[in-house]
Amino acid sequence: MTVRINPSILSADFVNFQAEFDTISNADLIHVDVMDNHFVPNLTFGQPMVARMQQISPLPLDVHLMIENPERWAPGFAETGAYSVTFHAEASQDPVALARTLRSLGARAGVALKPGTDVEPFLEILDEFDMLLVMTVEPGFGGQGLIEDTLQKVAKARRKIDAEKIDIWLQVDGGIDENNIERVAKLGADTFVAGNAVFKNVDRKAQIELLRNRAISGCNHRQ
Ligand code: DX5
Ligand code: ZN
Repeated sequence: MTVRINPSILSADFVNFQAEFDTISNADLIHVDVMDNHFVPNLTFGQPMVARMQQISPLPLDVHLMIENPERWAPGFAETGAYSVTFHAEASQDPVALARTLRSLGARAGVALKPGTDVEPFLEILDEFDMLLVMTVEPGFGGQGLIEDTLQKVAKARRKIDAEKIDIWLQVDGGIDENNIERVAKLGADTFVAGNAVFKNVDRKAQIELLRNRAISGCNHRQ
């Protein structure tokens, strides 16, 4: 079982990305939160900035689009080479069609669910996506506490993925830290976003290793 630790640069120093990237080079992917101040009440950066990050990043980018109208904007991130592009189901008119477009442009296609969005309808179409992102906080801000109720969606998705041997990553994002990652991994997540839990530490590489080891231990103890 492979686990992935994807630090979220929402918690990094925005005017020092190059130096910040170097401090997390033992991570798996770099999680980039794109917010438009419409889908979520916060604003970060757009595609030109992400394209530039890609040029200097030692790791592939895991782009999380918290934006309205992803049909209009998501393909541009795939076109400039983002490794993974995740859009929100709640904002998309046709998630399957958009995922197909992203795949045809060479990106992995992810679909994200807010805490209040039911996972059931997506369990039937998981093979259309390369990643299911179960948001474990309301999207918009780093440093929030994990919403426990969201974890039943992780467990449900894991049961379906394993039962049907579906090739898909199961990501959690929001409030993941060294104290809960093992439990969340045990429930079924394999791809972990961590903003605060990585960047608050002076030794980020050691923290990434700690998170990874605890996630592996959780995966190994799945029922
Ligand atoms: C929140 C973002 C997250 C955020 C996670 O809307 O999608 O990626 O940066 O931050 P932490 O790990 O601090 O909750
Ligand atoms: Zn995110």
